[in-house]
Amino acid sequence: MPEELRDIRNKALSELDMVQGLKDLEAWRIRYLGKKSRLTQILRSLGTLALEERKIIGAEANDLKKVLELNLAKKQETLREALFASPEGQEFDVTLPGRPVTIGKLHPTTQILNEICEIFSNMGFQVVEGPDVEWDYYNFEALNIPQDHPARDMFATLWIDIGAKERARLLRTHTSPMQIRLMERQQPPIRAIVPGRVYRYEATDATHESMFYQVEGLAVDKNITLADLKGTLFEFCRRLFGAERKVRFRCDYFPFVEPGVEVAIACLACQGNGCRLCGDSGWIEILGAGMVHPDVLTRVNIDPTRYTGFAFGLGVERIPMLRYGIEDIRLFYTNDLRFLKQF
Ligand code: PHE
Repeated sequence: MPEELRDIRNKALSELDMVQGLKDLEAWRIRYLGKKSRLTQILRSLGTLALEERKIIGAEANDLKKVLELNLAKKQETLREALFASPEGQEFDVTLPGRPVTIGKLHPTTQILNEICEIFSNMGFQVVEGPDVEWDYYNFEALNIPQDHPARDMFATLWIDIGAKERARLLRTHTSPMQIRLMERQQPPIRAIVPGRVYRYEATDATHESMFYQVEGLAVDKNITLADLKGTLFEFCRRLFGAERKVRFRCDYFPFVEPGVEVAIACLACQGNGCRLCGDSGWIEILGAGMVHPDVLTRVNIDPTRYTGFAFGLGVERIPMLRYGIEDIRLFYTNDLRFLKQF
């Protein structure tokens, strides 16, 4: 028996030396100190031994148990230390403060769209969306731009199929086709804005993208005048750019409005003194607008002698470009996190 105890001791201690990880250590503990281990069996059977033998074996067996437990504890300590010093061990250190959770952000274009929609919502406008793929009829014909009209040159068009005139489909070049869809759908009073993507077949550069955003606006009712258009857009500019910002209205031409206007704001970079951003003019054009053309109203069965309306189309990316001094519109569509994280 004492010999067997010696064997257990030698075997256990040399195996303990080889143990590399906590899992192996637990296996070792079960093997030498567990309920079914030889040592436990010996300790349990002490009662069956003669008194003399029991004294000697008992002392030796209990001694061995202590030695094994002590060495187990030591080994446990060294293994833990090694684990926490290693990179994978550190991941499990529950006492370290948590890593900050990085939260995504809305794209700068989405942020400004939300802001624009909120301003117009507060003024009583509905927010509506329309299709990106559009018929020639809605994008051009119904807006007083028949097939051979020179105004088609204003919009370098991406065609989907040209085919017969009624079947011709394209990617909308502006959000104005939604004016027609809204008025077809609903009799006045109408007050709606339409945010959405528009497409142009153009070489891209710092100020041109083949896809960008517009927000269309339409108000049709009795007694709507150019003064309502001016009041609404002035107020919009004040809310978006601040009450101090100067706003300028000038005549412009769009086939589907009469009269047509162009709205510009005093350049945000030079405060109207003239700089590179505004091409030395001091003004930056942000939208086209006008009174809905009587022929357009007639086409959608709204009587132009009873109803009038105004419409406007706003270029969206321009606004954050002005606000933050972004010099290249293409940055909005290249998904560069270094750019996007700034907003
Ligand atoms: N749709 C025109 C454009 O894209 C803008 C516009 C909209 C002008 C509504 C007048 C009225 O240039």
